[in-house]
Amino acid sequence: MRKPLIAGNWKMNKTVTESISLVKELVDFVKGYQETEIVICPPYTSLWVTKELIQDSNILLGAQNMYFQDEGAYTGEISASMLQNIGCHYVIVGHSERREYFHESSREVARKVCQALSFGIKPIICVGEKLEERESGTAKEVVKEEIEAIFEVLKSQDAVEVVFAYEPIWAIGTGKSATSQDANDMIKYIRNLLQQKYNEKIAEQIRILYGGSVKPENIKELMTESDIDGALVGGASLKALTFSRLVKFRE
Ligand code: 13P
Repeated sequence: MRKPLIAGNWKMNKTVTESISLVKELVDFVKGYQETEIVICPPYTSLWVTKELIQDSNILLGAQNMYFQDEGAYTGEISASMLQNIGCHYVIVGHSERREYFHESSREVARKVCQALSFGIKPIICVGEKLEERESGTAKEVVKEEIEAIFEVLKSQDAVEVVFAYEPIWAIGTGKSATSQDANDMIKYIRNLLQQKYNEKIAEQIRILYGGSVKPENIKELMTESDIDGALVGGASLKALTFSRLVKFRE
């Protein structure tokens, strides 16, 4: 059984001061809730204070990105050992905003996956197609290519440590979520690729999330689908009450 995972990606939002009030409220709202694994990914500047505030809670810490080198002259970058040292359990890699605005290639994303794993941090690997690709019928090809770059480096003994997130780019921040059937269809396709590359047992253990305009109004329906194991949430993770309703989607 795959435990549902709800992860909040705050993106470039929340100062340290704002993060403190959001985290304090959230800790309170989800206190004792064990049915969902809860992860929040604040900006780097808020990681430390967040870590302090969630220390005795059921919330885990994630980062939004990292660099694949160990250390050195890479101005502005953050390493896996820095994230490990601060207490990050997860790191988002290959978000479409990074691929698009910062020109990250699938090869770089794959290197980040390896680096995160070697420091015991679970990567949340984002994949997903653009609107034109969906409309021209190439969505699966695009996702397959992104996944295959990961397959080149991901060994079977590490595969169960990663999480995938299918985030169709046209659904991010637009208010227009994929239908639960379409999301499930792509996620099943990804699981099938995992099965072909590794084996059925491994594929059945790996969690695959959906992301793109997830909100309290659509989470239940998404989570009734066979293969959707949780959500990677942007906008709706910035309000403690809203995010806690996503976490407690079963209620
Ligand atoms: P929204 O939930 O704001 O659509 O963002 C999704 C996302 O990009 C999460 O990584």
